[in-house]
Amino acid sequence: MWKYKEFMPVDESKIVTLQEGGTPFLKCDKLGQDLNIELWVKVEGSNPTGSFKDRGMSVGISKALELGVDTVGCASTGNTSASLAAYAARAGLKCVVILPSGKVALGKLAQAMFHGAQVLSMDGNFDEALEAVTTLALEGELYLLNSVNPFRLEGQKSIGFEIIDDLGWNSPDRIILPVGNAGNISAIWKGICEFHEAGFMQDLPMMTGIQAQGASPIVNAFKKNSLEIETVEKPETVATAIRIGAPVSYLKALRAIYDSNGYAETVTDEEILDAQKMLARTEGIGVEPASAASIAGLIKLREQGIIDKNEQIVCIVTGHLLKDPETAINACSKPVKIKTDIDNLREILKQK
Ligand SMILES: Cc1ncc(COP(=O)(O)O)c(C=O)c1O
Repeated sequence: MWKYKEFMPVDESKIVTLQEGGTPFLKCDKLGQDLNIELWVKVEGSNPTGSFKDRGMSVGISKALELGVDTVGCASTGNTSASLAAYAARAGLKCVVILPSGKVALGKLAQAMFHGAQVLSMDGNFDEALEAVTTLALEGELYLLNSVNPFRLEGQKSIGFEIIDDLGWNSPDRIILPVGNAGNISAIWKGICEFHEAGFMQDLPMMTGIQAQGASPIVNAFKKNSLEIETVEKPETVATAIRIGAPVSYLKALRAIYDSNGYAETVTDEEILDAQKMLARTEGIGVEPASAASIAGLIKLREQGIIDKNEQIVCIVTGHLLKDPETAINACSKPVKIKTDIDNLREILKQK
């Protein structure tokens, strides 16, 4: 992503990178034909720690070095902590992460621990963890690298740059992505607007945010045509990455949706898990549940007629399948046990 460094506000000599960005941009003809649209999928699970967070963390940690801090921290539903732990390790900084106890997918927890972060498990949800770490940051204990940190968003806007670049300096009709704390949709829209103002593209995409039904304050506000959200006190969804009731960047996200003539919709956990499996089995793209919300949302909005036929659509899938191995295993039938003799194997294959 550093090919766009002129758009990133950092000191070039201080860049900390694991070669994030430049992720696959795949045309999905089978799914596209089924839905009568032109579908592209931006695979953010191919980033170094397996999610789009690496883009923001590369800029955020570079800035932390520039500022001379020694400790960085975040609250996280998982991916932010995995990414921060890796980039802090690369920069030689101390890292503290606060996670909602029992609600972080196993792969993400393993990453944060393995990269040497101090992992604190809080008896509360993400919103409460964020409040706690923000207090620590205001007291000067650490440099906060949640997406309230504007430098995180400066990195994540490169997703928008790449989509336009990938499409030959053209905008798609629509960009669809899952929304949790709402930093990513805001960042991508910022990037798109910067490219537009620079004269690199003519049209603008309709920004379309998808939330899980049990954690949907932004969609609720959108349905009321409002710029204010009502906090969801007890957010719940299988897509733990977007299990957030009080999204920090809600205002920027709603502005992105309204200003781009976009849309916001909810999907159920069942729709998320069905879409996750379908994407894996028809297109070979393995994503974690939150990421599949974009595909589930696409299907729903196409059925509702909000999305027109022949639209050119980019779905952003934000994190890798292996982030949440437990949910993946639970969605499949168990491996068939076989004996070592070849006749038994032939017998089993015949049954299939
Ligand atoms: C895989 C995945 N998708 C989507 C999101 C939501 O992104 P944002 O909080 O920027 O809206 C997250 C955030 O943790 C995530 O990890």
